[in-house]
Amino acid sequence: MSRRLFILATAVFWCGVLAFWLAGRLAGPLPPAAQPVAQPPAPAAERLLSLAEVAAHGVPEDCWMAIDGQVVDLGAYLPEHPSRPAVINPWCGREASQAYHTKGKGRPHSAEADQLLATFRIGRLAP
Ligand code: HEM
Repeated sequence: MSRRLFILATAVFWCGVLAFWLAGRLAGPLPPAAQPVAQPPAPAAERLLSLAEVAAHGVPEDCWMAIDGQVVDLGAYLPEHPSRPAVINPWCGREASQAYHTKGKGRPHSAEADQLLATFRIGRLAP
């Protein structure tokens, strides 16, 4: 009696295993796990800054300028600037397009200076 029971239980077990295997085959391959798609970084929102905000950063250690409609943060750059500090420092916190384009003596900055300037851009001057 117990031997018949054992055979029956074994048969039921293997039928179960077979059923699972068949179900897996019929269901087909699992869909690939959803991969997070790398998104390109969103362009930084254009920061509109007023001249009053620029003016609040008017010391060499915290120096913003408005140049050609762009606002640049030059705090880290001022110590590197090739002129005497007295030439550039007074322009902190101000609209400095003309000063930039003339260096205060009627000569424009180089193309390299223009490229450098762009790296300090933090926003656009509000109209
Ligand atoms: C806004 C007021 C500024 C004034 C009055 C000014 C003036 C000057 C002066 C007098 C010189 C040295 C002499 C010469 O090369 O003729 C100079 C050189 C230079 N300045 Fe300025 N500067 C100003 C802003 C800037 C800014 C914002 C940058 C860049 C972030 C910059 C980058 C340079 C560079 C790279 C040089 C070396 C020469 C060249 O590449 O043109 N300057 N600047």
